[in-house]
Amino acid sequence: MSRTVYVNGEYLPEEEAKVSIFDRGFLMADGVYEVTTVLDGKLVDFGGHAKRLERSLRELEMDAPCTMDELLEIHRQLIAKNGITDGTVYLQVTRGNPGDRDFSWPEPPVKPTLVLFTTAKPGFADSPLAKTGIEVITVPDIRWGRRDIKTVQLLYPSMAKMMAKKAGVSDAWFVEDGFVTEGYSNNAYIVKNGQIITRALSNDILHGITRAAVLRFAREAQMEVVERNFTPDEAYAADEAFCTSASAFVMPIVKIDAAVIGTGTPGHVATRLREIYIEEMRKAAI
Ligand code: PDD
Repeated sequence: MSRTVYVNGEYLPEEEAKVSIFDRGFLMADGVYEVTTVLDGKLVDFGGHAKRLERSLRELEMDAPCTMDELLEIHRQLIAKNGITDGTVYLQVTRGNPGDRDFSWPEPPVKPTLVLFTTAKPGFADSPLAKTGIEVITVPDIRWGRRDIKTVQLLYPSMAKMMAKKAGVSDAWFVEDGFVTEGYSNNAYIVKNGQIITRALSNDILHGITRAAVLRFAREAQMEVVERNFTPDEAYAADEAFCTSASAFVMPIVKIDAAVIGTGTPGHVATRLREIYIEEMRKAAI
């Protein structure tokens, strides 16, 4: 059955949803996005995603298409119309359709394009991969310098995912100037001697909404968190490794390049944080 999606004020069957060929999202990757998890038919950390969206828009001097309350209502309508229990809502805002191709931003601004759609992922908090852990490779980070803005320029992350697939693994971690930045679509962590180590926030990485929640839960559970750079060599020798994102929650990593991490099975810290995160987020979902 076809999904109902949202485009610029209308709820439509997906086959009827259209965006102009002059849309700056299509021609210039001039757009930002969010992916919000749905558990039990409710939105996980919508407030965090809305805040980051506002920040991404501000950084690109782009107009918001509507208020965040209106966006919440559109998310809820789509969840209801598509009967989503577990899954995600994808949202994209672009600088709109100026009617031609031009490097300059349209002046005055044109109406932003707003698109949302749902993806059903039944039972998605019980991913079998979380029980075995995943394997990753490291690849050079050649993305642009404002990775803190959640833009739709996802060509290199997409290439990195394909490099991982060709290597027979699930994921790729980016490395820049000898240090791990983040995963192709998630934030990266290692655990050594009980310390959870992850890169500090800057323009080099996306400020993950899951990252913020997981670090808060870790500190509340008296786990030690250290926000600093780490090298691939440190990761190879770590006791545990894991990544976080709205779609992976907390995902244990058992191999990085040729190095088996710890015992080669999901570690205690990652497993516990995954349990806490899912439990707390189910409770707080709206
Ligand atoms: N990706 N880093 C990058 C580069 C990401 O693309 C993402 C999210 C994250 C984690 O952010 P959050 O915890 O807010 O999901 C970190 C989403 C899930 C995606 O592109 O599908």
